[in-house]
Amino acid sequence: MKWANTIKWCKDHVELIDQRKIPLKEEYLKIRTAEEMYKAIKEMIIRGAPAIGVAAAYGIALAALKTKNKETLQKKIALIESARPTAYNLFYAVKRMKDLLEKSERIEASSFVKEAIAIHEEDKKLTELLGENGAPLIEDKALYMTICNAGALATGGIGTALAVFYKAKEQGKKFTVFVPETRPYLQGARLTAWELQKNGIEVILIVDGAIGHILKTENIKGVFVGADRIAKNGDVANKIGTYSLAISAKENNVPFYVVAPKTTFDIDLVTGERIPIEERPEKEVTEIMGLRVAPHNIKVRNPAFDVTPGKLISGIVTDKGIIPPPFKKNIKRILC
Ligand code: MRU
Repeated sequence: MKWANTIKWCKDHVELIDQRKIPLKEEYLKIRTAEEMYKAIKEMIIRGAPAIGVAAAYGIALAALKTKNKETLQKKIALIESARPTAYNLFYAVKRMKDLLEKSERIEASSFVKEAIAIHEEDKKLTELLGENGAPLIEDKALYMTICNAGALATGGIGTALAVFYKAKEQGKKFTVFVPETRPYLQGARLTAWELQKNGIEVILIVDGAIGHILKTENIKGVFVGADRIAKNGDVANKIGTYSLAISAKENNVPFYVVAPKTTFDIDLVTGERIPIEERPEKEVTEIMGLRVAPHNIKVRNPAFDVTPGKLISGIVTDKGIIPPPFKKNIKRILC
């Protein structure tokens, strides 16, 4: 894979590609404080579950470079943890940093930096494994579909769902990926189309409303999506529209795969019912790239995620292998 500059630790700051600007500009921002990292996560400068986790860990490391006071650090950790509610990787990474704080007698900034780098390195390895485990599902000269952006831009490594495509390409397979634009934030049109194209994979961009038609009329061999949080029974929270995509895939007998590392599994949650679903600002719906497209004074709902029931999922590709249904039994058996 040629391209992956999503997040980089630079000794006293973190460098992020500004994902709000892609594909029009490739701009990098320097993040120097926990507050700046909180803002970067909240405002989608960096997004995607595993990338949010890595960013959170680095944000806490930046805070540890600036204080010797445990209470101050705890407050910065709480701030970062409040940035977004759905992606479990954020809470996984924050917990590791909290555990380190708890067992430290005093704050050694270098150990927080070391832990954040370890979380990033582990994410890189996990995404490689996702790609390797999922690549055998990809056939030469076939058609596939994804949603949102579950690529290098969404992780500290090569991606989750898109890692499967990258590894299959490395193995010499040629294939085409249908990419729904993914309103309201357009992660599909802006990020996935850009990232796949940059890495030499053929993309066909479609509007979200074309998903059912394409699944019905084209010979799509599989749908591959990422995940923000997976419950113990295989219910999967992912970008809004994933649930409708899974229903459409089922209706048209297209296999529907979720691709996620162990750090996305919240096995304390028995079902997906209690996964917190983020509601984002109305402006994302009433405007497109700053241009008003809806009447003023209109009521708006903007849930950023939905939960796909495990019964619609053909398999969950993880770093430990592909988990087949029934997930209630197999997640515990394979992952725990
Ligand atoms: O709101 P976002 O862009 O952070 O949402 C991202 C997703 O829903 C991704 O599909 C998910 O994190 C996939 S894992 C790389």
